[in-house]
Amino acid sequence: MLAGRHVVLAVSGGVAAYKAAYLARRLLEVGAEVRTVMTDASRQFLGPQTLAAITGSAPVLGLFDQEEVSPHTTLGQWADVIVVAPATAATMSRLATGLSVDAISATVLASRCPVVVAPAMHTEMWEHPATARNVATLIGDGCVIAGPATGALAGGDEGLGRMLDPDEILEIVAGAISPGAMYGWKILVSAGGTREAIDPVRYIGNRSSGKMGNAIALAAAEAGAQVTLVTTVAAPAHRNIDEVQVESAQDMADAVWKAAPQVDAAVLAAAVADFRPADPAVGKLRRAEGLPQVHLEPTPDILAGVAAMVDRPYLVGFAAEVGSLEVAIEKAQRKGVDLLVANDVARTGSGFGTDTNEVTLITPDGATEAWELLSKAEVGTRLIAEIVRRHQPAGER
Ligand SMILES: Cc1cc2nc3c(=O)[nH]c(=O)nc-3n(C[C@H](O)[C@H](O)[C@H](O)COP(=O)(O)O)c2cc1C
Repeated sequence: MLAGRHVVLAVSGGVAAYKAAYLARRLLEVGAEVRTVMTDASRQFLGPQTLAAITGSAPVLGLFDQEEVSPHTTLGQWADVIVVAPATAATMSRLATGLSVDAISATVLASRCPVVVAPAMHTEMWEHPATARNVATLIGDGCVIAGPATGALAGGDEGLGRMLDPDEILEIVAGAISPGAMYGWKILVSAGGTREAIDPVRYIGNRSSGKMGNAIALAAAEAGAQVTLVTTVAAPAHRNIDEVQVESAQDMADAVWKAAPQVDAAVLAAAVADFRPADPAVGKLRRAEGLPQVHLEPTPDILAGVAAMVDRPYLVGFAAEVGSLEVAIEKAQRKGVDLLVANDVARTGSGFGTDTNEVTLITPDGATEAWELLSKAEVGTRLIAEIVRRHQPAGER
C-alpha cells in the first residue's frame, strides 16, 4: 500500500524520537518515498544527520533557515500522508489549534492528506485534560491517533504514554493512506490448490501455492475490506482476514457458496480440481493388494455456482492456461463472471509457486487488458483497485 507513496515523517521533541530513525527505515523498506521534518526540540534527541543518511535527503528543520523558500507548503503538498512520530504534547497542542509556528505544524496545516499522530509522553501529560482536549480536537479534524501504548517510559517510569512500536505505526499509516478504498466492503477470496482423496493418505492435488490468492486477500484487507479467505494453505496474518481452512473441492464449494451471498465481491483464485476419485478407499491402499482402479467423477463447479446465485456478488474468476488466451476468453464469455484473470502458468516467472505473475484481464465481451510481469503483491493491489473502480457505483458507499 505504501510503495511509491510520499510519506512525510515529522519528528517532535520526545525521547522516543530515536525510534523515528527505525520508522524511516521501515517506510523505505516497504517502498515509500520519505521526507522528514523536525522540531527544534527533537534535535536534542535525534541528530538530523541520522535521518538524512537513512532517507537520502536532509530534514526540514525550520520555516526560514532553509534553501527552500516555502518548505512547509512544498512538503505539505508533496505528502500523500504525514506521520507525526513521536508527537509531543506541545506539538499536538499546536496541531489542534492550527498554531503554525514551526515546520511540523505549518506542514500539517499546508496539507490535505491523512495525518497519523503517534503520541509519546509521560502518563501525567497524556492524561492531562489539556492533552485530552487536543486529542479530541485532532480526532474531530480527521487525524488518526496511533496509540499510545502502555509500557516502559523514559526515566524508569511505567504506564500509558509510550509510543507505539514503529512496525505498528507503519501498519496504521498504510491503512490511513487509502482510507475506504474498500472500507466497508466484504470480500470473499479463495486460495490454494484442492486435494482430492484417493485413500486416507494419498490425494490428487495440483501445483498451486496459494500465493496469488493470499496476496489478493492481503491487498483487500489492507484496503479496509473485511475478508473471508477460503483456503487450503496458511493465510496471511491480518486483523481483517477471517481464515476458513478447507481441503477438497467439495469443502471449498460448501464454504464459498455459504459466504458468497453475504459479500460484495468474490475473487476465486484457488486452483480447484476438476475431477476427484469417485470412491476414495476407506483404508490405505496397499501395493500387495494389486494395482487399484481409480475412477474419477467431476467436482462441483464453484465459479458457476456463484455465477448462478440470484443476488450474486461481483465475481472475479481465475484461469490458469497454457499457451494461447483463446480458452480463457471463451471461459470469460461463458462462465457468467464479471472479470476473468488469466495467466499462462507455463511462462517463466508466471503461475504456480512463483512470486511474480503476468496476467491478462478479460471481460465477458472478450476485451483483454494485459499487465506486465509484476510481483504477486502488486497484482493483488492492482486487482483490488480495479475491482473498486469497476464495481463501485458513484455514491453507493
Ligand atoms: C528529557 C526530556 C524528555 C522529554 N520527553 C517528552 C516526551 O516524551 N513527550 C513530550 O510530550 N514531551 C517531552 N518533553 C518535553 C518537550 O521536549 C517539550 O515540550 C518541547 O517543547 C517539545 O517541543 P516540540 O513539540 O516542538 O518538539 C521532554 C523534555 C525533556 C527535557
